[in-house]
Amino acid sequence: MNFKRRTHTCGELTAANAGETVVLNGWVDRRRDLGGVIFIGLRDRYGVTQVVFEPEHNPEAHNLAKQLRSEFVIAVEGKVRRRPDDQINKDMATGEIDVVAENLVILNEAETPPFPIKDKIDAFEELRLKYRYLDLRRPVLQKNLLLRHRMYQLVRKYFDANDFVEIETPYLMKSTPEGARDYLVPSRLHKGKFYALPQSPQAYKQLLMVSGFDKYFQIVKCFRDEDLRADRQPEFTQIDVEMSFVNSENVFEVVEGLMKVLFKELWNIELETPVPRLSFDEALERYGSDKPDLRFGLELVTLNNIFRDTGFKVFKDAVDGGGIITGVTAPGCASYSRNQIDNLTNFVKKLGAKGLVWLKVKEDGLDSPIAKFLSDGEKQKLVEILNAQSGDLILILAGSRIKTLEQMGALRLELAKRLELVKEDTEPKLLWVTDFPLLEWDEETKRYYAMHHPFTSPRPEDIPLLDTDPGKVKARAYDLVLNGNEIAGGSIRIHNSALQAKMFNVLGISKEEAEKKFGFLMNAFKFGAPPHGGIAFGFDRMVMIFAGEESIRDTIAFPKTTSALSLMDEAPSEVSEEQLKELHIKIRDDDDK
Ligand code: AMO
Repeated sequence: MNFKRRTHTCGELTAANAGETVVLNGWVDRRRDLGGVIFIGLRDRYGVTQVVFEPEHNPEAHNLAKQLRSEFVIAVEGKVRRRPDDQINKDMATGEIDVVAENLVILNEAETPPFPIKDKIDAFEELRLKYRYLDLRRPVLQKNLLLRHRMYQLVRKYFDANDFVEIETPYLMKSTPEGARDYLVPSRLHKGKFYALPQSPQAYKQLLMVSGFDKYFQIVKCFRDEDLRADRQPEFTQIDVEMSFVNSENVFEVVEGLMKVLFKELWNIELETPVPRLSFDEALERYGSDKPDLRFGLELVTLNNIFRDTGFKVFKDAVDGGGIITGVTAPGCASYSRNQIDNLTNFVKKLGAKGLVWLKVKEDGLDSPIAKFLSDGEKQKLVEILNAQSGDLILILAGSRIKTLEQMGALRLELAKRLELVKEDTEPKLLWVTDFPLLEWDEETKRYYAMHHPFTSPRPEDIPLLDTDPGKVKARAYDLVLNGNEIAGGSIRIHNSALQAKMFNVLGISKEEAEKKFGFLMNAFKFGAPPHGGIAFGFDRMVMIFAGEESIRDTIAFPKTTSALSLMDEAPSEVSEEQLKELHIKIRDDDDK
């Protein structure tokens, strides 16, 4: 096929090009026939240019243009013509000009796409994912992927400039599940054995520190077979970082430097550093979350002191049982109807709360079904400590500490949504959450789990507690939170094989099991492991936030559904009997029993 390669993209011609003969290659965005004249919007990833086919100008091209349909691929040669002033479209980069066609070659035809190729469509996501290659033609997704590309470059440039070395680590590794489930890959050469796809390169990057690489980074795929949500994918990308001879402060400094670049380049915002910090305990108590969204107030206030000797049983029971009473002021919400309040009550009940106490602050006092159970002193202190004004609504939950705080944290986010406290121009808020507990107790399996991962170092002053009260030990772990999203997490690591062995012991991992699973790492620690620490960013989540998207699927070229399906190529799929045989695998048919 004989066609001319483009001289310009579809996004760049302006009045300055008037009179030039140009060639454009692209897709037909839409076609309009207006009294013999045919207008084509010609699209490529750079923009849309209007091409005009006039019968008197070139009858042959005009005739051919009658065949054009949406998404046909064409090459057009023509002359750039400035539009009359009253036809200039200021919303379009190329809105000052038309290209008057002289030559048209149809490079390929297209079936009618299952949904229109434009930003605002109401197609179901399933359909979009099935035809992802068409979905990716939509300008909004192209913009997201271009932003993602730009972020890769900024990240690489930053780490390179700061002497970090990019090193690839294996995707086929040993299975050492300690959090999510592993994705397994059966070995053909070694019967009955499996590789695992890495949940993160954690062990490798620590080994690279033992090797002396000092400052490592990698933009890397991670694989986790876990239950998915809007902000999780079974395979996702991390910016993985590790450094030797550092403490948390040194890691923070490097990370804040990167965030400064991203804020400046992508949002034109001068990020102030150091980034504020909250301890895990404080974040939970003040915001009911370990990833608080600080773009709005609605701070929670612990009310135990006010109600220590209260006559209101629900509160008294919470205090006496070692639980918490936590309250929040919803500004201006005293006008909420019964129905609106019931809605909020149902919201927290779904999260497991027994009920929601509400009090409307009126000029003449508190209006609430529980007002009669509270003393005047309690009411006065309550209004004072919550800084509630007339017209506000006070909401209170009481119960076991962590659960109740988390429920209140969720209610806080819900209120912010209802009150539309976050607007498009609300300034983004970055935050470090520090001093996480090292361990989490699991009632079901009756054992401790590492809250971050088993290689995270306890605070040195807490090490003796490992023997006496492990639940109280705080970790040298930190999360970076942007607008209420956990975008990165990391820690200072254990670099001493004895302490690492002790940690496995606390986690109920026997010596033999630890040796089998992590022997390679503990062994390495015996050969001069430097103190080290690091962090990993959830890159997809970061792109999501910088792109202003709600789902990480809109920032990944070929994402999976929340049930880990790829609707386009229909993975996962069955494989042939021969393939299974080669891998020494037989499908069990007793799975459902
Ligand atoms: P962690 O498990 O906290 O730490 O992961 C780091 C960051 O990765 C992102 N993330 C995800 N993004 C999309 N889909 C998922 N399924 C998913 N899971 C996690 C989050 C998270 O903050 N090796 C350690 C890091 C370290 O200690 O250096 C690790 O992987 O944004």
